[in-house]
Amino acid sequence: MALTGADVAKHSKADDCWVIVHGKAYDVTEFLPEHPGGSKIIVKYAGKDATEEFEPIHPPDTLDKYLPKSKHLGPVDMSTVAKEKTEESPDEIERQKRIQEMPLLEQCYNLLDFEAVARRVMKKTAWGYYSSAADDEITLRENRSAFQRMWFRPRILVNVEKVDFSTTMLGTPTSIPFYVTATALGKLGHPEGEVVLTRASQKHDVIQMIPTLASCSFDEIIDAAGPGQVQWLQLYVNKDRAITQRIVQHAERRGCRGLFITVDAPQLGRREKDMRTKFTEQGSNIQDGQVTDNSQGAARAISSFIDPALSWADIPWFQSITKMPIVLKGVQRVEDVLKAVEAGVQGVVLSNHGGRQLEFSRSAIEVLAETMPVLREQGLDGKIEVYVDGGVRRATDILKALCLGAKGVGIGRPFLYAMSAYGLDGVDRAMQLLKDEMEMGMRLIGATNIAELTPALVDSRGLFSHAAPPSDNLASAVYDPLVNPGQRVGVAQAKSRL
Ligand SMILES: Cc1cc2nc3c(=O)[nH]c(=O)nc-3n(C[C@H](O)[C@H](O)[C@H](O)COP(=O)(O)O)c2cc1C
Repeated sequence: MALTGADVAKHSKADDCWVIVHGKAYDVTEFLPEHPGGSKIIVKYAGKDATEEFEPIHPPDTLDKYLPKSKHLGPVDMSTVAKEKTEESPDEIERQKRIQEMPLLEQCYNLLDFEAVARRVMKKTAWGYYSSAADDEITLRENRSAFQRMWFRPRILVNVEKVDFSTTMLGTPTSIPFYVTATALGKLGHPEGEVVLTRASQKHDVIQMIPTLASCSFDEIIDAAGPGQVQWLQLYVNKDRAITQRIVQHAERRGCRGLFITVDAPQLGRREKDMRTKFTEQGSNIQDGQVTDNSQGAARAISSFIDPALSWADIPWFQSITKMPIVLKGVQRVEDVLKAVEAGVQGVVLSNHGGRQLEFSRSAIEVLAETMPVLREQGLDGKIEVYVDGGVRRATDILKALCLGAKGVGIGRPFLYAMSAYGLDGVDRAMQLLKDEMEMGMRLIGATNIAELTPALVDSRGLFSHAAPPSDNLASAVYDPLVNPGQRVGVAQAKSRL
């Protein structure tokens, strides 16, 4: 017989704590001290339905994996569970109004349009997580401005009636040289999570990189793919290498065609925008009259397993456990690209993690311009595939990267924003817009296929100029400007002040 809401509500304390998730009750009392996100967030839901809070952060198989079967108490008759009276905050009421007034999808003409809409209609906490970057967000903005310091040198009078921008990445054909890069916690933006990106990628014959920290389970994302659809795995390496080995070999068995090991995140960057939104939104910050800072809670907790001891010495081990091509994601200097060639991996992604890790990392496009001439000089450019990500918003950005020698580019936030605002149709349109821009861009620079995109088509002299970094917003806001002298002070007035 199913439990009732009243049965569960009796267990509403830290030393006797039941919660409901997806219509089933769980006794989590003994698990509380082990919860990577701390016990407080669970105790807040003691005796209640925690599904809404649980859902985006935990893949569906989490409870089966981490909570002993004896603590699974069975189904709850949800008609007997008192609905939480969530008083709608004025912010939420405003947001709902903005959703009603959202522009039609057809009014979005480029990827930045999706960002503008998402900013207005997404929940503050989700927006905070997706949009934030490290420290003063100078690298985040540099990722965009670097592309704006590169210009084209188009060829004219080339027959561009037919242009073909299909290519191959890690040996598999794909329709266009961009892929959906790995971004964690898809369900913060859309109730269905990452599978929305899978479906759009299938429609457009685009490759998807599956994040270790997806909201959907890995198998759900694989199962959502169509026949022959290419997916890669992004890997955060666990301190427990047996777990890592299981994840990698499972991915290979399920048909993943590339292993992208993230190497720029031994510790999570400090993303203050994200911290601030959580601080103001979560009532749980004030407990027993004490203000506690749990603002990095979820993001830090879910990544606490990542091994900061990961090093070059681990690479042969990865090569011994998988036949998938291995790519290092988050390389930031040519010296490390050369080391990657030496280590015998198949690729690198030049990336600063969308500006979310080391502040004052250079843009990937700049590191690419540093890297490719060295690889060519040493005859190594055919030995390794070089990818870039960060700040790609237009097909002209893709073209610039390919002209410099990238095999392809990763795109992160734009697809999250399109998905959050418009769901599958949004991601579909975003991909189509990129394809339309790509066709036009190829024609206008005089290239009919990917092989014709060469360094001669770009002027990248400005790329290395860091003369004027993007403005430092926080410092500007607190800067007290110098002022000119005010009114002349009369002698009598001046004397009276003495
Ligand atoms: C919300 C969000 C979550 C991310 N999660 C991961 C992750 O789990 N693993 C990873 O290797 N990179 C992650 N990244 C970094 C992306 O893979 C990629 O490097 C970056 O988003 C590219 O920049 P862009 O967003 O400007 O396109 C994340 C980025 C964002 C914006």
